[in-house]
Amino acid sequence: MNDLFSVEGKVALVTGGAQGMGRMIAEGLVKAGVRVYITSRKPDVCEQSASELCEFGECVAIPATLDTPEAVVELANRFKEKEEKIDILINNAGRTWGAPLEEFPDKAWAPVMAVNVQGPFTLIRELLPQLRKAGGNESPARVINIGSLAGMVPQHLSAYSYAASKAAIHHLSRELAADLAGDNITVNAIVPGYFPTKMTAHIREEEEKTRELVGNIPLNRLGSPEDIVGLCIFLSSRAGAYITGVELPVDGGMSGCN
Ligand SMILES: NC(=O)c1ccc[n+]([C@@H]2O[C@H](COP(=O)([O-])OP(=O)(O)OC[C@H]3O[C@@H](n4cnc5c(N)ncnc54)[C@H](OP(=O)(O)O)[C@@H]3O)[C@@H](O)[C@H]2O)c1
Repeated sequence: MNDLFSVEGKVALVTGGAQGMGRMIAEGLVKAGVRVYITSRKPDVCEQSASELCEFGECVAIPATLDTPEAVVELANRFKEKEEKIDILINNAGRTWGAPLEEFPDKAWAPVMAVNVQGPFTLIRELLPQLRKAGGNESPARVINIGSLAGMVPQHLSAYSYAASKAAIHHLSRELAADLAGDNITVNAIVPGYFPTKMTAHIREEEEKTRELVGNIPLNRLGSPEDIVGLCIFLSSRAGAYITGVELPVDGGMSGCN
């Protein structure tokens, strides 16, 4: 039972792992003994984060933009040059767009869907041989897609394409989980509530707004690195091996209690 939550010795790819929530996840996995590949659009940021994370273990930078299928295929190819298999794929990179309904532009759809939905799909498709190679009946390979509470419960953020993209990635996770269970690959969506990153900076910029936000969270605080890392480690370890096709909220009770 001692190694029920162990992920030591595994290989992971965390998209957007150089900053924000991806960085929290990458750091937690590195500290738990996983060799973690991280991406960022900015090569210097990617290298800097990887070198900081190398203080705790193994971390490798692969700079990549993920807004076209071609760029995602390129990322997969660069990963495959380095590794024959992948135990944990975390599709974390994501983008948003906010504007009042009347002014919400058509151009706010394609780029958001590309990074939040098509990118994860293409990456999973391209890494299927490596996922199949890593997965066994007792210990499947794990795909974790980072969704959002906004894709589950309306948040009144005027982020229409974002909310729809996150609902889409939740459902895509279930579709893929169904198709890939027989290949010993689990696919789950993590559904975060509110974490203090760049993405939520605009709703935390004034003290009053933060107080109001936190006041709506049953557990009365924002999410922390431990909250998101704990769930990723659980899903990636022996403890999470029998879970596939689910949407797991980590939201301080926002979806379950309100
Ligand atoms: N923060 C929250 O409360 C919250 C809540 C629910 C869901 N989420 C989800 O959590 C994930 C991480 O978001 P975050 O909160 O950490 O926000 P963030 O600080 O804005 O980070 C977004 C991440 O996505 C990457 N990214 C964005 N556009 C990209 C593109 N075109 N190509 C490649 N990478 C791109 C960024 O990489 P670089 O900038 O380094 O290139 C960065 O690592 C997202 O999927 C988000 O939807 C966050």
